[in-house]
Amino acid sequence: QGLYPGISLFIFQETMYIEENTYKNDMISLIFLLKEKVGALAKVLRIFEEKSINLTHIESRPSRVNKDEYEFFINLDRRNTPLLTDIIKTLRNEMGVTVHELSRKKKKDAVPWFPRTIQELDRFANQILSYGAELDADHPGFKDPVYRARRKEFADMAYNYRHGQPIPKVTYTEEEKKTWGTVFRELKTLYPTHACYEHNHVFPLLEKYCGYQEDNIPQLEDVSKFLQTCTGFRLRPVAGLLSSRDFLAGLAFRVFHSTQYIRHGSKPMYTPEPDVCHELLGHVPLFADISFAQFSQEIGLASLGAPDEYIEKLATVYWFTVEFGLCKEGDTIKAYGAGLLSSFGELQYCLSDKPEIQSLNLEKTAVQKYPVTEFQPVYYVAESYLKRNSCFHKSFCLFSFRRFASSIPRPFSIRYDPYTQRIEVLDNAKQLKNLAESISSEMGTLCSALKKIE
Ligand SMILES: [Fe+2]
Repeated sequence: QGLYPGISLFIFQETMYIEENTYKNDMISLIFLLKEKVGALAKVLRIFEEKSINLTHIESRPSRVNKDEYEFFINLDRRNTPLLTDIIKTLRNEMGVTVHELSRKKKKDAVPWFPRTIQELDRFANQILSYGAELDADHPGFKDPVYRARRKEFADMAYNYRHGQPIPKVTYTEEEKKTWGTVFRELKTLYPTHACYEHNHVFPLLEKYCGYQEDNIPQLEDVSKFLQTCTGFRLRPVAGLLSSRDFLAGLAFRVFHSTQYIRHGSKPMYTPEPDVCHELLGHVPLFADISFAQFSQEIGLASLGAPDEYIEKLATVYWFTVEFGLCKEGDTIKAYGAGLLSSFGELQYCLSDKPEIQSLNLEKTAVQKYPVTEFQPVYYVAESYLKRNSCFHKSFCLFSFRRFASSIPRPFSIRYDPYTQRIEVLDNAKQLKNLAESISSEMGTLCSALKKIE
């Protein structure tokens, strides 16, 4: 069981009690689980003793996974590596001990680190690719020192944000509100004819409960609370551009990294990067939809620990669905992608006869090249196999996405536990049994409910 060298890091991150210096290159670390039984540890230690291996460090704690077991963490000198394979084999096969090997370098099939708890998303805050205040020379706000200072305020706020805190409320300036007002007014005229059913369905609720008005920029905190009541999705402010891997990992926890600043007032209908108009008008309405939320989370779950080339494919799928997706509603095509729903120009263009429209086919879509600074030449349409008014209900690519996701190589299965907000790695019989029991209890509920509505 459980020889996943790459997981080393997340076990390390999660437990916190392992000192950093145990990761020195001359060390090998192991974690193993033992049943609470007199002499169990002594038996294991004897195996090391027989091979004349000196343990340099040992500590223990009750296992979080199995209540009647203890976890032991040990360090040994790297020079003992040749003997280790035999020892691990003995422990696993003859003694039935679960062993996690932490720090032997096995680059080839190492699993990249991923967050195991929702709190660990805090780590992304200081690994952003570019800080929100650094603007390119062709950015409309590049020569505006006031705008740049403002961007830094937003970036600093997001940088210091930690999970569980309320998202700081922002007092937007009159100019910022004016910019929002222009974008809001113009886009709202297009939604009834261009936006998908789900978007139009949720929008009035956002106006009613979250302050979506022409003269008011909604607060992320209010919107995040609203989304949590709809689908459990929440927003967290982000200080700059995240890597695809980090961004997608957030979705696994139903966390959407959102900007809070607004585009430059000189060009209200243009922004070279996501801003609060894009997040609030484009993304938020769809995250309130149960099926769409599920789809988004599954992209995130599929990304955890995936090899780099699959992260790129998942990011491309995300691009052509969540950002620039079109869907069929009866005989017409509507937009559900946030990049479209937040762009007055592209929302009209995508439904004109100018771009190329293709059917969504994940294997193909995942390798499609795309430009990031101009209108898309190609869009993918999600088919609705049920001739109903919506693309997400029942059918939204979930089945084909799961098939696609199952092709991603990962040496273990994972599952999100919404109660603890943790990712469970399903790598031992006990966990699978727990899962089977919880499914069985849900099945009981389902059967009883079915009987009652017969
Ligand atoms: Fe976006």
